[in-house]
Amino acid sequence: MQNIKQIAALDTFIVRHPVLRSEKPIESCHFEGDTLETTVHFGLFEAKNLLGVISLFEAKNDLFTSKKQFQIRGMAVLKQHQKKGFGEKLIMNSEKYCRDQNANLIWFNAREAAIGFYQKMGYQVKGLPFEIKNVGKHIVMFKEISNE
Ligand SMILES: CC(C)(COP(=O)(O)OP(=O)(O)OC[C@H]1O[C@@H](n2cnc3c(N)ncnc32)[C@H](O)[C@@H]1OP(=O)(O)O)[C@@H](O)C(=O)NCCC(=O)NCCS
Repeated sequence: MQNIKQIAALDTFIVRHPVLRSEKPIESCHFEGDTLETTVHFGLFEAKNLLGVISLFEAKNDLFTSKKQFQIRGMAVLKQHQKKGFGEKLIMNSEKYCRDQNANLIWFNAREAAIGFYQKMGYQVKGLPFEIKNVGKHIVMFKEISNE
């Protein structure tokens, strides 16, 4: 049985490092936005083991007109636990959190390899792909969320 709870920014590094920054020093796991007032980090646990993480914070992207926007960062599930539905659980939990904050839209820079996953979760791409230095090709994805 898994459960999702709020964790500290530093705790995310256990998953971020092997999944998102494996070739880089551990310090590279600190992301811009990690310590904003609106930032929350969630971890998915199974028997006390942290297997997946996601971070989100309020951030306005000028591509969108929605008033209250949240950005997702650092979405990652440990390799040996991928494709078990944990990513979906983390996304659903984050959407609920954003609805509770009366947000209207969630957006993020998606890695090319993860586009299919987010599309399954109901997200759409916006604009053209772009390169994030030392990380690879990304594209903006988003979902409008309603508070009803
Ligand atoms: C992308 C990621 C977060 C998905 O998490 P996950 O736990 O493996 O995904 P889930 O098991 O919840 O998958 C939900 C659905 O999406 C599908 N899916 C998962 N990863 C996919 C991918 N990369 N491409 C297409 N579909 C994918 C699953 O097959 C499943 O479909 P189903 O419901 O029809 O069976 C995870 O694979 C990961 O950490 N990848 C490496 C890091 C990364 O790319 N992070 C995103 C950065 S933007």
